[in-house]
Amino acid sequence: MNLILMGLPGAGKGTQAEKIVEKYGIPHISTGDMFRAAIKGGTELGLKAKAYMDEGNLVPDEVTVGIVRERLSQDDCKGGFLLDGFPRTVAQAEALESMLEDLGRRLDHVLYIKVPKEDLFRRLTGRWICPTCGATYHELYNPPKVAGKCDKDGSDLIQRDDDKPETVEKRLEVNLEQTQPLVDFYEGKGYLRNINGQQDIQLVFEDLDEILKGINR
Ligand code: AP5
Repeated sequence: MNLILMGLPGAGKGTQAEKIVEKYGIPHISTGDMFRAAIKGGTELGLKAKAYMDEGNLVPDEVTVGIVRERLSQDDCKGGFLLDGFPRTVAQAEALESMLEDLGRRLDHVLYIKVPKEDLFRRLTGRWICPTCGATYHELYNPPKVAGKCDKDGSDLIQRDDDKPETVEKRLEVNLEQTQPLVDFYEGKGYLRNINGQQDIQLVFEDLDEILKGINR
């Protein structure tokens, strides 16, 4: 299955990706995670991306497209992939079309998790993540069993640098601008599936799963 998970910052892409990967075993390709790993590793890509991310801006298309092209050509993507946070602009979507054409692949669905902007601010500023395994929590909506500790490996949870209130505002503004043209692009091609992201995490997954069960694998 070849999937895109779309949604504004905080819509629940990462949270649902964990569940989809667990059930279907396809690789999770999150451009945000790839940039954060590059920043942590102090690579040239990381240095480039950090300046944009810290401001809540998008990393330029040519940089982002390059890392996705390389990742999709790896062997583990032959049986399918789950793109999370890519594409985020129409130019990226067009670049993805040509990458998939080169690889002889086609998309199954673009899963668009919809949540009103008012809820997203609360979700992002209350988010905690595990620096070891990447698991995502929320202090109110999805708390860990022991405060401040990851349920899976016991690591101390941290907050993302770009979840500061002022950066969150900017991220939402930038992404709101880019999202509608992308929605129109995929709706026009018949790939878009709307998911109500304003319900309990497990119910969001059940809605996604209903769609995924219908894919011929
Ligand atoms: P990225 O890492 O992709 O961040 P994002 O899109 O801003 O999305 P988030 O990871 O913040 O949110 P999410 O939808 O995964 O929500 P989550 O599941 O964590 O990108 C970061 C930056 O990298 C960008 O700003 C940009 O600079 C750069 N970048 C990345 N991709 C790029 C691209 N393609 N082009 C250019 N630049 C790019 O959930 C959020 C919180 O809500 C959690 O606390 C969670 O527990 C809680 N929650 C989840 N679901 C629910 C629910 N149903 N009910 C209540 N709470 C919930």
